[in-house]
Amino acid sequence: MRMKPSRNFLLGLCSMLALGFLYYSSGRISLRGWGHKSLYDKQGFFLKLDGTLPLELMYKYGNLSEGACKPGFAAAKMTAIYPKFTKLAPMFLDPNYKRFAKIGDYLPPFGVKLQEKIIDILLSATKSYGLGEEIDSMSCKTCIIVGNGGILANKSLGQRIDDFDVVVRLNEAPVKGFEKDVGSKTTIRITYPEGAIQKTERYEAESLFVLSAFKALDLKWLRYMVFNQRLRSTDGFWKSVARHVPREPSDIRILNPYFIQEASFKLIGLPHNNGQMGRGNIPTLGAVAITMALHNCDEVAVAGFGYNMSTPHAPLHYYEKIRMSAIKESWTHNISKEKEFLVKLVKAGVIQDWTGGICGAGC
Ligand SMILES: *[C@@H]1O[C@H](CO)[C@@H](O)[C@H](O)[C@H]1NC(C)=O
Ligand SMILES: *[C@@H]1O[C@H](CO)[C@@H](O)[C@H](O)[C@H]1NC(C)=O
Ligand SMILES: *[C@@H]1O[C@H](CO)[C@@H](O)[C@H](O)[C@H]1NC(C)=O
Ligand SMILES: *[C@@H]1O[C@H](CO)[C@@H](O)[C@H](O)[C@H]1NC(C)=O
Repeated sequence: MRMKPSRNFLLGLCSMLALGFLYYSSGRISLRGWGHKSLYDKQGFFLKLDGTLPLELMYKYGNLSEGACKPGFAAAKMTAIYPKFTKLAPMFLDPNYKRFAKIGDYLPPFGVKLQEKIIDILLSATKSYGLGEEIDSMSCKTCIIVGNGGILANKSLGQRIDDFDVVVRLNEAPVKGFEKDVGSKTTIRITYPEGAIQKTERYEAESLFVLSAFKALDLKWLRYMVFNQRLRSTDGFWKSVARHVPREPSDIRILNPYFIQEASFKLIGLPHNNGQMGRGNIPTLGAVAITMALHNCDEVAVAGFGYNMSTPHAPLHYYEKIRMSAIKESWTHNISKEKEFLVKLVKAGVIQDWTGGICGAGC
């Protein structure tokens, strides 16, 4: 994909900042129709966000012992505030992906259109399409998405993060040296070429490397990584990219692009733009990962998302010194719309926010 330099720059800037999740405006909810008040907002979420579950589920969950994993909890809560939710959407592409009709008609990042050939090649090389036997066979799994926000620093949440069955990390977020605050376990690391860890020694010993493809070129890049070939050119990327990913093909996955599509067009309500990438219609990787977890985990928590309004001079990311005041408006993302979505999830108890940055003082 070719982009104008100014757009390249903004895309780069934005994704550097994306995971800090500066949320500056609080959500306004618009009502449908003229005069008569709908029960739903524009995206199809109930305006009343208490997330009340059907009685039999309340009993079922109420009877579980404290702290036990609640089967189907995240999806049930989600359905309670967003009746259109349907759980079925596999985490990663597998050889049956063409049967998953929702992604066939969209180009990347929202689908697989015109990429079928390279995806087939990639999938026949990786040969693995799940989280691994142990996790896949669990009847109930808890997941945490660890965002990169400075709000994670100095909270000593590491041990509690490691207690989750699935720990999801994003892009280059380091673990080594930060274990006390961010934990030491990484089940999957979701990234794209420009966001991936570049120094091979910085990869953790074990984790699945998951590509979230934002453009066709990202899949081509993955082919170089999977087949361990030398990347000859980096034309078309908006900043430098990883040139080697120290992972076996069987530890590499392709994230189902449906989560980008659903997060953007349905859950957040970003412009459809004829199904193509355009101004302000790309969700951040954090929102994509949360959407993935709603479909694939029984309980979902997040940490390191959002921003503490009372500390503007605090670091943007937990691992570097850029301050939050450095953040700028972005071309690709719509952080304020995205915040409205995440606030709904936290308010209704669909996800637990362990660092409290999504709502701040606000919900
Ligand atoms: C939960 O416990 C109550 C009281 O012990 C019992 O009456 C009820 O049947 C249980 N519900 C389920 C779904 O197990
Ligand atoms: C965390 O604590 C260290 C050492 O006390 C301090 O230097 C750093 O600024 C703190 N980070 C944040 C985000 O508060
Ligand atoms: C974000 O969405 C709001 C509301 O739809 C819109 O007014 C604003 O221009 C959008 N921002 C970007 C960067 O697209
Ligand atoms: C935000 O910062 C203030 C001041 O340092 C602190 O008291 C508060 O606990 C922080 N809130 C969160 C959610 O970290």
